[in-house]
Amino acid sequence: MDERRGESEPYWTERPRSRSAPSERRFLYRGELLAFTVDTGVFSSHGLDPGTALLIENLGVRPDDRVLDLGCGWGSVGVAAAKAAARGRVVLTDVNRRAARLARANLARNGILHAEVRVGEGFAPVAGETFDVIATNPPYRIGRERILEILARAYEHLAPAGRLVLVGKGSQGIRYYQGWLEEHWAGRVTVLARGSGYRVLEARRPPAAAARVGGADRTGVARARVGALSRSTAGRSA
Ligand SMILES: C[S@@+](CC[C@H](N)C(=O)[O-])C[C@H]1O[C@@H](n2cnc3c(N)ncnc32)[C@H](O)[C@@H]1O
Repeated sequence: MDERRGESEPYWTERPRSRSAPSERRFLYRGELLAFTVDTGVFSSHGLDPGTALLIENLGVRPDDRVLDLGCGWGSVGVAAAKAAARGRVVLTDVNRRAARLARANLARNGILHAEVRVGEGFAPVAGETFDVIATNPPYRIGRERILEILARAYEHLAPAGRLVLVGKGSQGIRYYQGWLEEHWAGRVTVLARGSGYRVLEARRPPAAAARVGGADRTGVARARVGALSRSTAGRSA
């Protein structure tokens, strides 16, 4: 689904001004019908985006995982991840306050107590925290440099052997981001799934021992890249 369809203001607006018009959406996840409230002014308010659906299907969250849903929108990924990580913990983040409110309500609606929603840009709401899985359908429209910064920064927010899992389609430059990860990421990069023009990519952080022995150089490349991106994007707002 084109992310612009039906939206009068960018979905990453911090405080959407479009008139609120809540509606209901449902989808099946692992045999359970999950229920959501969606609204105008947030991404994919018409229903579950096909790229997001492919991401959720292929996320592979385990019961004890700590999961970050970066750019959660109305919370489809975070709610599904919390169902899968029944003994784990899930943090959902978004810059859009209306999206964050919806995601919070949707966690409660689906009976989830071991997840929370935080408002903020990029990794600012999870400073100093690490996760087993970072899941994202990134906000491609904010621009390539800022998406690369998110990808590069994900590394330091992953536990050893943790996984960044992202979805995108050709017109969003997913092949470019795959190539960038293959060149810069200090660990294995895999295509987990393809469908309807989308790809789900997994970039895995090496286990602790491997990172100490063989990963130092490539980790250094990733870190250097973060520094360069921070300098080149300094001072821009969301
Ligand atoms: C493509 S949408 C995906 C939403 C939801 N995960 C889904 O798949 O339906 C990207 C989300 O990222 C949020 N976003 C935009 N810029 C962001 C940033 N710098 N940091 C965190 N979230 C951001 C947007 O508000 C939007 O909700």
